Amino acid sequence: MVWSWDSALVHLQPRLAHGPDIEWPSARTNGGPLVCNPEQVSELSFETLDQLRQRRSAKWQAFGPDVIPAWVAEMDFSMAPPISKALHAAIDRSDTGYAWPEAVGEALAVFAATRWRWLLDPTNVIPVADVLTGVGHTLIALTQPGDAVVINSPVYPPFFTTVTNVAHRTVVDVPLVWDGVRHVLDFEGLEREFARPEVTVYLMCSPQNPTGLVFSRSVLVQVSELAAAHGVIVVADEIHAPMTYPGVEFSPYLSVSGDRPAVSVISASKAWNIAGLKCAQVITNDSEIAALLRARMPQEVQHGAGHLGSIAAFVAYTEGQPWLDAVVAHLREQAELLKSLLATHLPLIHCEQPMASYLAWLDCRAMNLGEDPAAFFLEHARVALNSGPTFGPTGTDFVRLNFANAPELLTEIITRMGGAAR
Ligand SMILES: Cc1ncc(COP(=O)(O)O)c(C=O)c1O
Repeated sequence: MVWSWDSALVHLQPRLAHGPDIEWPSARTNGGPLVCNPEQVSELSFETLDQLRQRRSAKWQAFGPDVIPAWVAEMDFSMAPPISKALHAAIDRSDTGYAWPEAVGEALAVFAATRWRWLLDPTNVIPVADVLTGVGHTLIALTQPGDAVVINSPVYPPFFTTVTNVAHRTVVDVPLVWDGVRHVLDFEGLEREFARPEVTVYLMCSPQNPTGLVFSRSVLVQVSELAAAHGVIVVADEIHAPMTYPGVEFSPYLSVSGDRPAVSVISASKAWNIAGLKCAQVITNDSEIAALLRARMPQEVQHGAGHLGSIAAFVAYTEGQPWLDAVVAHLREQAELLKSLLATHLPLIHCEQPMASYLAWLDCRAMNLGEDPAAFFLEHARVALNSGPTFGPTGTDFVRLNFANAPELLTEIITRMGGAAR
């Protein structure tokens, strides 16, 4: 079946109105009917520490066996069973050629509609290897030499380097501000900087890494109006969005911006822990931007998605919601556990409650551990955290902790940190 937006609506609307048990017709070409049933339940299984230490990924290789890693954004859970099955089947049939990632756009459309009630047009989805590649090449395509890109520190460190070293544009930092409860956007600062003629793009991290902030729909509307008033294009990195906690509403930026031109870069990689497989999606609501991106992004970038990554992302988006729900429920419990562990072992550390994902932004200023408490905790607690200052000037005295692990491991991490600080 050839995709058309009308046919999408025909198949999506009954699904949205009457529940989840609807086949997604164009996915049949990928080997049988697909049923995405979010009411199914799935259980998480945790790898043991010994099993985790067998992993060859960055998180588990960078430090020695006496260090517990709680840094890079990888999760410690066993892979979602449907993804594992699909990957094993691909290997068994020696299906390791080039990716055919078009189906991933359709699968993402199913996921976006069922999860967020967002109807996106899969013909405006450009497959890329990973989110940073998508962000970097979107910035190159949409800006000119001399342009500047607004970001909000503290923020995922490669936001700085992608703007400066990949796109060769200037970073304008409008730091998040503290509203008494959590970090939020500084609208006065945004307005001031958007007014500068060289500012042409606003690179948002939504949900926000490292603070775990999920922007409300009304905040995003305000961003969209401000950006439109100054001719600024919003590029939203939404990689953490599938892990928004129950009870918190995530609004995809493109579902808010209407026909104001914008770009979202998203991936199944964080939420299903498949970052090493390389598959992300660049999406726009604007056909001119889509044409520009297709014309300006190098062919190797538009064909950069990995085949196994595309298979895994397809399965994640179409069959992965029960497992994702189990992950998200666990992460919210971990966030609560972290709060009580900090109160017991590290009462001087302040941490705002994340609203999504598995990253905690720990404010260590009251502990006087030096500019980079991560160095202290690595040396004295043998716990590896992300260094706060790498998230921008506002990260001094902070560390980022990854709690996508088992409760026992999180308890051991905070107990060790508390012991070292005593
Ligand atoms: C906000 C954000 N964007 C992008 C990435 C990297 O994604 P990718 O590996 O798809 O480039 C991460 C990884 O943690 C992230 O937190």
